[in-house]
Amino acid sequence: MKRKAGNAPQIEELLYQALETEIGGLNVYETAVSCAVNEDLKKEWLEYLEETRTHRRVLLTVFEQLGLDPERQPPGREVVRHIGESLVKAMKMAVAAGDPDAAQLVAAECVVLAETKDHANWTLIGVIADQQGGVEAKVLKQAYDAVVTDEEHHLYHTKGWSRELWIEALGFPAVLPPPEEVKQVESAIGASRAEQARDKMLGH
Ligand SMILES: [Fe+2]
Ligand SMILES: [Fe+2]
Repeated sequence: MKRKAGNAPQIEELLYQALETEIGGLNVYETAVSCAVNEDLKKEWLEYLEETRTHRRVLLTVFEQLGLDPERQPPGREVVRHIGESLVKAMKMAVAAGDPDAAQLVAAECVVLAETKDHANWTLIGVIADQQGGVEAKVLKQAYDAVVTDEEHHLYHTKGWSRELWIEALGFPAVLPPPEEVKQVESAIGASRAEQARDKMLGH
């Protein structure tokens, strides 16, 4: 099958956005950890913080291998940075309001938002690795394989935490740690199955 070469400037754009997402993610996690009341959640986010550090390193290696300058600031990257800083600001606002449980809910939502972008970036990097030929594909495939399972955890597990902590706050029976955690979910299908199993886990 003859491969169609991708749109090179847009591929670069994605890589810059992905790098900035990981860099901003470090600040998001540092703040989120300080908002975590639940000890299991705190432990989990500390792990994700470390993994995010690794992802940044993986991307810096990609930049080196592809001859890209990691200091460059294309406009799309600045937008990603702005969103990351806004998420940190939102969490600090919630902390300042003085209700730790409420701040934890805000932090969980902020992590879900940050990880939605992170997960989308890596899914797209996987598409490039799959569709593009040559050295670039090889470099990106290696990076993708090193990171993708972490990103599935980051997004789907935190989504589970956010939902269950909200349900608990609303005064209904919650599954904590969330089903996604217990069932070690690593995909969208798995996350959906875990969510549907919550009734059973509550003993209904
Ligand atoms: Fe990441
Ligand atoms: Fe992530």
